Amino acid sequence: MATINDNYLKLKAGYLFPEIARRVSAFAEANPDAPIIKLGIGDITEPLPAACRQAMIQAVEEMGDRATFKGYGPEQGYLWLREKIAQHDFQARGCDIDPSEIFISDGSKCDCGNILDIFGNDNSIAVTDPVYPVYVDTNVMAGHTGPVNDRGEYEGLVYLPINAENSFTASIPNHKVDLIYLCFPNNPTGAIATREHLQAWVNYARAHSSIILFDAAYEGFITDASTPHSIYEMEGARDCAIEFRSFSKNAGFTGIRCALTVVPKSLVGKAADGSDVALHGLWNRRQSTKFNGVSYPVQRGAEAVYSADGQAQTRALIDFYMENARIIREQLTAAGLTVYGGVNAPYVWVKTPNGLSSWDFFDKLLHTCHVVGTPGSGFGAAGEGYFRISAFNSRDNVVEAMHRVTEKFRR
Ligand code: MLT
Repeated sequence: MATINDNYLKLKAGYLFPEIARRVSAFAEANPDAPIIKLGIGDITEPLPAACRQAMIQAVEEMGDRATFKGYGPEQGYLWLREKIAQHDFQARGCDIDPSEIFISDGSKCDCGNILDIFGNDNSIAVTDPVYPVYVDTNVMAGHTGPVNDRGEYEGLVYLPINAENSFTASIPNHKVDLIYLCFPNNPTGAIATREHLQAWVNYARAHSSIILFDAAYEGFITDASTPHSIYEMEGARDCAIEFRSFSKNAGFTGIRCALTVVPKSLVGKAADGSDVALHGLWNRRQSTKFNGVSYPVQRGAEAVYSADGQAQTRALIDFYMENARIIREQLTAAGLTVYGGVNAPYVWVKTPNGLSSWDFFDKLLHTCHVVGTPGSGFGAAGEGYFRISAFNSRDNVVEAMHRVTEKFRR
């Protein structure tokens, strides 16, 4: 009989979001008339910007004409899209990133997991706690950890606690780790990193020949002018960081699928024979073997984000969700709850009231308010006692959800 990858058996229950969906479906089945409002998974609700739609429609028309039809595209993505990204997202912020260092993909989640293909199995790996669960679970699947303990921590991972005391930014370790996952603006806490904090991480990584895996999927939501949008705004980051970005949340592409990963050509890892090997070539080899690129219409849709109309429309989308975040933050604060985030990120991180556990609060909100959020403990042991509320929903739903929750929990 064929054997399986036993590492999957080490994983805790289901992946967080399907597990939430399972519980919500069970509740909805038993209570078909309950008007459930979902502020759990960070899935966008507002329609695709017109500029993106028009570009995609035109691209589909081109596919219907022999003269403009396209088959397989370049695995790394079309150059016209990579040039726009390099110019608008990086060079305009003083980051020395060339289009040839950008890889277009179908999602940051996929890239954050797939990137492990090009790293060895003997690296020490640090994650914050709480953390976006994909970083942890993909390392478990790859066999980079031992078993999980009662607190939900995997043997072999280095957990860096983030909490209100450290403004949800991890202290830099006083020992060497090889790979470090950082996510700013942070999912789930909504925290941001100052320039000094990120520069300290870059300095640490360069001193220890470590590599930072920097998830910037929510950079479009930064409102604070002094906050860096890219790790490459830090001096020396080209030599120690890979950055992941996405069109999912800023341009409403969760159902369309387009993202990008930056692997600078100057970034190297160590081969078994002790030589330095450029990670860019490895990622290129990995992608051209296992991935056939993002569809032409979708890349045209992503390109339209950088047009004048696209910029105005995506800004309006972001502003819409950030107004939701403001409503959530202010309403919950007025009701006496302690909240974090929601200023530079579409997530509000709430201290659960009355000492409730994260899952107890989840159940209480679902059963009494018919509102769904995400239990903080699903993001790691240090997320216990917290709860994440996403700002991705219609205005009416956010206002109604906050009305129900504040009525219930007002102190
Ligand atoms: C989240 O809710 O944390 C995100 O939507 C998950 C994701 O982007 O994969």
